[in-house]
Amino acid sequence: MQFLLHHNVIIQAIAGNHHEILEQCRDVKSAGWVLSNSLATIHSHLSKTMEMDEAHDALKKALQGIPVASLTGTDLVETPPSADLDYLDSLAVRTVEVFKLDGIITLKPKVFAESEIRAFPPGELTQVLEEGLASIEKVPILDIPATYPQMWNDVEHEMFKVVRSGHFILGPKVEELEEQIAGYTQAPYAVGVSSGTDALLLALMAADIGPGDEVITTPYTFFATAGSIVRTGAKPVFVDIDPITFNMDVQKIEAAITPQTKAIMPVHLFGQCVEMPPLLELADKHKLLVIEDAAQAIGSEYLERRAGGMGDFGCFSFFPTKNLGGFGDAGLVTTRSKEFYEKLKILRVHGMEPKYYHSMIGGNFRIDALQAAIILAKLIHLENWIDDRRNNAQRYHRLFRKFALSDQFSLPMEIFPRHVYNQYVVRVHYSQRDELKEYLNSRNAGCEIYYPLPLHLQECFKDLGYKKGDFPEAERAAGETLALPVSNEVTQEQQQWVIEKIRAFISSH
Ligand SMILES: Cc1ncc(COP(=O)(O)O)c(C=O)c1O
Repeated sequence: MQFLLHHNVIIQAIAGNHHEILEQCRDVKSAGWVLSNSLATIHSHLSKTMEMDEAHDALKKALQGIPVASLTGTDLVETPPSADLDYLDSLAVRTVEVFKLDGIITLKPKVFAESEIRAFPPGELTQVLEEGLASIEKVPILDIPATYPQMWNDVEHEMFKVVRSGHFILGPKVEELEEQIAGYTQAPYAVGVSSGTDALLLALMAADIGPGDEVITTPYTFFATAGSIVRTGAKPVFVDIDPITFNMDVQKIEAAITPQTKAIMPVHLFGQCVEMPPLLELADKHKLLVIEDAAQAIGSEYLERRAGGMGDFGCFSFFPTKNLGGFGDAGLVTTRSKEFYEKLKILRVHGMEPKYYHSMIGGNFRIDALQAAIILAKLIHLENWIDDRRNNAQRYHRLFRKFALSDQFSLPMEIFPRHVYNQYVVRVHYSQRDELKEYLNSRNAGCEIYYPLPLHLQECFKDLGYKKGDFPEAERAAGETLALPVSNEVTQEQQQWVIEKIRAFISSH
């Protein structure tokens, strides 16, 4: 839950009263925000009994790990005057409303009696949290604002630095992101682009893949994987998946290689790596390029090598639902080749080098500096978030076993550590997957089917000549899988609540 800390609480906490409230509000489960407009009030209060710099230090120390909520100019202008509240308290009410907080922690709750928001003193926080846990009403598959308290100050600061600079496309922030992600993924070079889809398309273009070429990939993935192959004029050649990992079955690749094959595009689906060593060996033997679709797998590892850093290219997505998501569309291509790196950079800007001279046809694949700044500010949390996701996955495992649900479901297995659980996908072992999904969704328990129709059966790919039955494991997975909320912000209590709903469904059928 998230609350606003009234300035009277912060003043008292610095004075040594209710000091534990700040500690409690540094926890993501009971995050406390402070209203930026109240900082001057707190400061001038402290200055009555302290030197100016002492007051400044005390305030800075108290606010460590506490996000600062700033209202926009329009919020301020539109905040109506109130007969009961002074201006700062009216702004506090507005902050609770616009940031969708769960209430205000204040020494004088009665002041807010006429407002719509919940107001309570610091001593009641534990009770409010307990009540909140006892009355969970919904668990979305992903709740992005729930992670804001951890990173808000850094993200906001970096965003506004970009806006103030007036430099919005490419530039130093993008270069910094490229350097950081190259280091993180263990790839020598990285090129920031406009989306994960464009990362795939750009990698294929840099590899000169086009009409007459074939690229081997999986039919059980997001559309962009095969869509980008077709957009170059090349043909996607599918091989079936391994039923345990949901990733392409590496044993089936060799039989699909023809003289036209130019590349293999493995997809590290849901956050677990494809079995890369035999795939890389095969690619080497047949002189094929390897373009990793690591859109769902940043931070995933295979024998300590990172997703996207093993093939010739690694393609990443920073779509908001990914483990490292921007506030919009963005992506990135890594590569191990300096030559490909130079080409990717030129193709990213319409094949232009030098300015207004075009030796090849590229496109607008540019990433904007705002996304780069946001992703960089979030990157420092990624390892912790991966740990949280992995812990959540383990907790689901325990809960499914504890309630003897293992007969009805099979759980995702970590065959190649480390799985980063962009999705926690179970198989529903009886023919009621769609009914279960409807049941859970209608009770506000988030769940999603990734993906209901494999790519070889998609209408737009019918010219490829595939038919039902060609890839039985991909088809079976499409009919059985269901993703549950596993993201880093999902709490133990929320997972228990989701499992309760699943149990209720099972017992009613
Ligand atoms: C496996 C896979 N490939 C490619 C993409 C495309 O990324 P984006 O949505 O950033 O274009 C996604 C994103 O959903 C994905 O999951």
